Amino acid sequence: MLKILIASSKGGAGKTMLATNLAAYYAVEIGNTVLVDADRQGSSLRWSERRATYTYPVLGLSGLHRDWEKQIPDDAQHVIIDTPAGIRADEVTGYLADVNVVLVPVLPSAIDLEAAEPFLAQIAELPPIKRGKVAVGVVANRLKPWTNASRLAVEEMRRFAFPVVGELRDTQGYVLANALGKSIFDYRSELVRSHQEDWIKMLRWLKKHG
Ligand SMILES: Nc1ncnc2c1ncn2[C@@H]1O[C@H](COP(=O)(O)OP(=O)(O)OP(=O)(O)O)[C@@H](O)[C@H]1O
Ligand SMILES: [Mg+2]
Repeated sequence: MLKILIASSKGGAGKTMLATNLAAYYAVEIGNTVLVDADRQGSSLRWSERRATYTYPVLGLSGLHRDWEKQIPDDAQHVIIDTPAGIRADEVTGYLADVNVVLVPVLPSAIDLEAAEPFLAQIAELPPIKRGKVAVGVVANRLKPWTNASRLAVEEMRRFAFPVVGELRDTQGYVLANALGKSIFDYRSELVRSHQEDWIKMLRWLKKHG
């Protein structure tokens, strides 16, 4: 069972987008996927409810209940945990005993880079991460690769203590799919395929840590 924690100190970086698209990818390709929503906003939970009647559903659980871990079925292959904005490094600790990897989405702006750096430095000191038991990957999100701002931001991210394991472009596809309880992995068009390819590197990295 691969358990992925998605966290970032900054709001709006793409945690829920990452969580829902990863959950859908695993549901479509493998099955038995659980999405745990630890955010009171409940966006991931609502997304899984919208998806409930589809061919590739994702089991949504609220991470706000104390016993959410007991609700994970034994045959679950992938568990993805979406967390609220503003999570502190010490709050991340609570999840580390149970996860294999942490993904941290970061947007390509000075404000986001400045917020990410101390957060990453703090989680680097948490014992399971320091000992290499839990791997951390940075996901550059909402990139506009034709802009200098995006290119420079990714260069800055490469100087972080953790590898940049994914570079996802900005596209309305994520916004439109999410509203329907879908993901970019539920579509087959040429345009969508190019965005699906953005995920290949991250999916390989995740597989390596499963
Ligand atoms: N790659 C992308 N391209 C276009 N829009 C995106 C992308 N990633 C995220 N978004 C949009 O940006 C907004 C914020 O993303 P999301 O809700 O996933 O962030 P979040 O980190 O979960 O926010 P919060 O901290 O409030 O939980 C959403 O409207 C989402 O659809
Ligand atoms: Mg969110």
